[in-house]
Parts: sequence; C-alpha cells; structure tokens
Amino acid sequence: GIDITSLEKDAGLLAFDPGYGNTGSCQSAITFVDGEKGILRHRGIPIEQLAEKSTFIETAMLLIFGKLPSLEERAAFRGLLSEHELLHEGLLHHFDGFQPGGQPMAILSAVINSLGNYHPELLEIQSPDEFRLAVAKLISKVRTIAAFSYRKSLGLPFMYPDPNLSYCRNFLHMMFSVPNRDYEPTKAAVAALTLFLVVHADHEQNCSCSTVRMVGSTKANLFASVSSGICALWGRLHGGANAAVIQMLTEMMAGRYKVKTFLDMVKRKEKRLMGFGHRVYKNFDPRAKVLKKAADNLLLETGVSDPLMDAALELQEAALNDDYFKSRKLYPNVDFYSGIILRALGIPVNMFPVMFAIGRLPGWIAHWHEENRDVATRIHRPRQIYTGPARRPYVPLDQR
Ligand code: ACO
Repeated sequence: GIDITSLEKDAGLLAFDPGYGNTGSCQSAITFVDGEKGILRHRGIPIEQLAEKSTFIETAMLLIFGKLPSLEERAAFRGLLSEHELLHEGLLHHFDGFQPGGQPMAILSAVINSLGNYHPELLEIQSPDEFRLAVAKLISKVRTIAAFSYRKSLGLPFMYPDPNLSYCRNFLHMMFSVPNRDYEPTKAAVAALTLFLVVHADHEQNCSCSTVRMVGSTKANLFASVSSGICALWGRLHGGANAAVIQMLTEMMAGRYKVKTFLDMVKRKEKRLMGFGHRVYKNFDPRAKVLKKAADNLLLETGVSDPLMDAALELQEAALNDDYFKSRKLYPNVDFYSGIILRALGIPVNMFPVMFAIGRLPGWIAHWHEENRDVATRIHRPRQIYTGPARRPYVPLDQR
C-alpha cells in the first residue's frame, strides 16, 4: 500500500534525519557546545566561570543582549525587573480556573501565553526599547507566576513580591514566606538557587529552544513562542527528567529495585536511566559536574543528609563502570543532580520542571530574538518521507 513513486522521488531529494540529529537548523552566535570534550560556553564565556562568578540576571543579560552588563546597565535592568514583578489583577483570575493540585507547568505555560493579552503593545516588537521591556516583564513575572502556581496548588494565599529583594531571594520569599512571620533563607540556599538557574540558562538547539525558534519563525509573538517552549520542556525526556530522576531514586530507595536489577532492566530497554545520556554530550555534561559539587556543598552547609544523594552516587558509579553505558558514551546530564538541590531548597517535585523553565527563559528569549532579527531566516518547515497508502478511491459509507 505504499506509494513507491512518491517515496522514490522524495528519497532521492530529501535528507532523512529522524530527530534532526545531523541537521543544523540555524546559525547562532549565542551558545557553543562541544559534546565530545564536554565544553559549554555562553557568548564565549565558559559555564564554569559563569557558575562561579555570575548572578542569574547577569547571565540572562549576557545571553539576551550579547555582553555582560556594566554596573549601571545591571542596576537599570534590575530596576525594570522590580517595576514589572507584579501581575495584572485580571491575570490572577486565571489561577482560579485551575484545579487545586493541578499541574504547575500547565498554569505556567497558560499564564505566560496570556501575558500577551495584557500587554498588546508588545505583541509586535518594533524597537530595542520595546524588546528590553518585554524581556524584563517576562523574566520578572515568570517567577511571580511560578510561585503563585505553587501557592495555589497548596491553597495558600499569594505572597506578593518584595522589590527590595534580589531575584532569587524574592522568588524564595514568594514561595515560602508566611504572613506575619519572618522568613529568611540561608545564604547557601540563595547561592544554590542562583547556580541552578545559571546552569540552566541556555543549551543551544535543544527541543524546547528549537520549538521556540520554530514557533517564532512564523513571527508569532514572544509570549506565545516562549509558552510553546514551556510545553516542549514538560516531557520527561527533557525538562521533566529532573523529576523523573527523583522518582527513579525514590523507587530504588523504597527497595523496589536493587542497582544491578535496575540497570539490567535498563539494558533490556524496559526502563531508562533518567538523568543519563544526551544528544550532544558524549562525555560528562559540564553542568552535571558543577551541580554535583553544589549539591555536596549545600548538603554539607545545611547539615541535611539526603539518602537520595547516596543512591544517586551508587547508581552513577555502577553505570559508569558498565559496558552498556560506556560503549554508548552515556554520562550523567544536568538533570541527574539538579533534583537533589531543589529538594534541599524545599521545592516539591511537581515544581521541578517549572524551576527549569525559569532558568531556561533567557535562552529561549535570546534565540527568539536571533530568529526574528536575522533577515535570512525562513519559516521552519521540515519535509517528510511519505510512507502512507498510494492513491485510492473514496469508499461510500454503505460499502465499507
Ligand atoms: N538510559 C538507557 N539507555 C539510553 C539512555 C538512557 N538514559 N539514553 C540513551 N540510551 C541508549 C539508547 O537506547 C540507544 O541505545 P541503542 O543504540 O541500543 O539503541 C543509545 O543509548 C543512543 O541513544 P539515543 O536514544 O539515540 O539518544 P538520543 O540522543 O535520541 O536521546 C536523550 C537523548 C533523550 C537525552 C536520552 O539519552 C534519554 O532518554 N535520557 C534520559 C532522559 C534524560 O535524562 N533527559 C534529559 C536530557 S538533558 C536535558 O534535557 C536538559
């Protein structure tokens, strides 16, 4: 039943590249990755240096505007973030439309998309100033929306942002403050959250970034394009992997599988070792290295011991010494240790992909901008190799 004529014709003309593993979909000056050597640089600066020295807002400005900000530029942008951290009261009703205990990723993607309705003047961005304003609104409001979605899921009153607090400190305040009671996160907690966001800020043409670029290539507005990225991030093979790692480790801890039994199931392809493997990295993911160190430090500084960390180490050791993983060059990726940090911060598992989305937002915005600024880009529209039935007649209902 296959239309050989069409298949032969297309096969001769088209490159068949399932999953686009060998297709360069665009030219980009934002992020460099060398997967064989385990190198990641944003605008030329190694991720290890950004992780050690940069704040999240500086990293975001580097990705989006192309260079690290001066003191004045950073202060001015911080001012814009504070100015735009509140949500329009009309937007608050959107939260009521979701079931209690609903998925925070659904709330995040819907409310981010709806932002366009409340800022119609930014649907068609015409100037660098308008772009800067849209960027500030998104980066500032995403953290308010994320924290509100968490509090809504617990039936707690919303905690409004405090313009005097730094980006990460303000987020923790909106998540965990209780009315009339002082709340002060530790320095270690704020530093760990900053690091988490910095290492997630961009990773070139991953699935959610490519989605944002694809949607943006139709000239869809920034809010809608970013919202589509959040949906792409949701799946467990991408941004959902950090939650899947915790689920996997919890099941192992509960005695459901021993490490060897679990790895045997992975090798029989009945299970996947979550937090391992990457389309580009065939070596240690540099972000996993940074996060592992940060998770160790955080647990040490807070005096909290997390049995899942021990389970993760045991699993990593066993996998790295196993021929199945060695021959396929499967190493821990960014998600293997990020969940341990989020747990230590008191963030529940259903918020993990939301945390990833807050971190990845600067990358999505930078790529949307590159896609829309570059006059040489075309609408993204891959081709296919048709494998369906050949031409056949319509059969009337009474003859089927
Ligand atoms: N566990 C077990 N086997 C794996 C894993 C894994 N985590 N990852 C890849 N493999 C195997 C594949 O089954 C395949 O084996 P085969 O040659 O016998 O068929 C081989 O390694 C090559 O893998 P592909 O599926 O071709 O790898 P791909 O590039 O398509 O997928 C992905 C990359 C999705 C990240 C994959 O490694 C995976 O599913 N990992 C687990 C989920 C995860 O951690 N995702 C987060 C990625 S990082 C991020 O999004 C921030």
